[in-house]
Amino acid sequence: MWTTRYAHRLAKPSSRCMSSSAAEKVRVTLFPGDGIGPEISSSVQKIFSVADVPIVWEPVDVTPVKSPSGKFIIPPESLEPMKRTKIGLKGPLATPIGKGHQSLNLALRKAFSLYANVRPCKSVVGYKTAYDDVDIVTIRENTEGEYSGIEHEIVPGVVQSIKVITENASTKVSKFAFDFAKAQGRRKVTAVHKSNIMRMSDGLFLDCCRRMSEKYPEIEFTEMYLDTLCMAMVQDPKQFDVLVLPNLYGDILSDLCAGLIGGLGLTPSGNIGADGVAIFEAVHGTAPDIAGQDKANPTALLLSGIMMLRHLQMHDLAQKIEQAIFKTITEGKYLTGDLGGKSSCSDYTNAICDNL
Ligand code: NAI
Repeated sequence: MWTTRYAHRLAKPSSRCMSSSAAEKVRVTLFPGDGIGPEISSSVQKIFSVADVPIVWEPVDVTPVKSPSGKFIIPPESLEPMKRTKIGLKGPLATPIGKGHQSLNLALRKAFSLYANVRPCKSVVGYKTAYDDVDIVTIRENTEGEYSGIEHEIVPGVVQSIKVITENASTKVSKFAFDFAKAQGRRKVTAVHKSNIMRMSDGLFLDCCRRMSEKYPEIEFTEMYLDTLCMAMVQDPKQFDVLVLPNLYGDILSDLCAGLIGGLGLTPSGNIGADGVAIFEAVHGTAPDIAGQDKANPTALLLSGIMMLRHLQMHDLAQKIEQAIFKTITEGKYLTGDLGGKSSCSDYTNAICDNL
């Protein structure tokens, strides 16, 4: 189960050659990313350091390089630290629109078979939005669907994009959703689909969810068309608990859920694979309009780091940092521009450190 996998690392130092304090630390690959990525990554590193989180960061640069075939790819050597540490924290990566290299986010998810994207959208204590008490988790299939990257031109002016849905990936992500719901004491899983239109592909996804639900009688299972769900979501988000979705629907709907709790600057996520391999990341992009200006809100990456600490069984530290964030937001003295304040990323970071 994803919540227990790394407990042994904390209990038992893995190498005799290391000093005891170094041996107790967990190594984490840090992808600072592009745009505001380095600023918000430094903020997380600073807060974790002040909170005495036992982590050794291994920073890597995934700026694409040209492969012998002429395609731009992630430098293969930059994947080595992640293969070793199996846990990563990632800032946003820029993807050129319609040309250049493919999405590096997609490439990383594929390289490490991170099949489930988990995005908790929970109302942030101290930050008022149009909706109170939102507590939804979207679980998005992360490796196929419309994002399989299979596109071609049939004849000039006609292109085809292939949506791939497999029984294997749909079964894995639905199992993950039910395991997650059970482990987190949640009551309901809703499968989201358009099987009335995409009868075979979404039909298969839904079928896998239905079959999985039979193994978890303690969790209520419901199914809903994507369009119906969008309307119901903005009317009353409290009726939803855990949602499981194919890739594209999950991408869109998880952003909608982020909007309910105050926007992308506050929303964390985790990309989870087999055997506890995971990369945690903020859901927002590189924010090129404010990059390099010390204006970015680091909360989403910070909350992603907190998800990572819980994944690593560091629950007390996760709670301590989370409380410091909520206290800082509730005090409202040092908020970044996206939250209606005037403070810099550095001032907000220092305020959280003071509240630890
Ligand atoms: P974006 O999320 O970077 O920015 C949208 C708006 O939100 C901008 O006004 C930006 O200033 C603001 N914003 C985003 N994060 C913020 C933060 N932490 N603090 C304060 N304000 C924040 O989305 P956009 O502009 O569509 O994408 C820019 C680039 O990011 C693109 O190259 C895109 O491909 C990439 N991207 C990467 C993602 C990832 O690595 N996971 C996810 C989404 C986009």
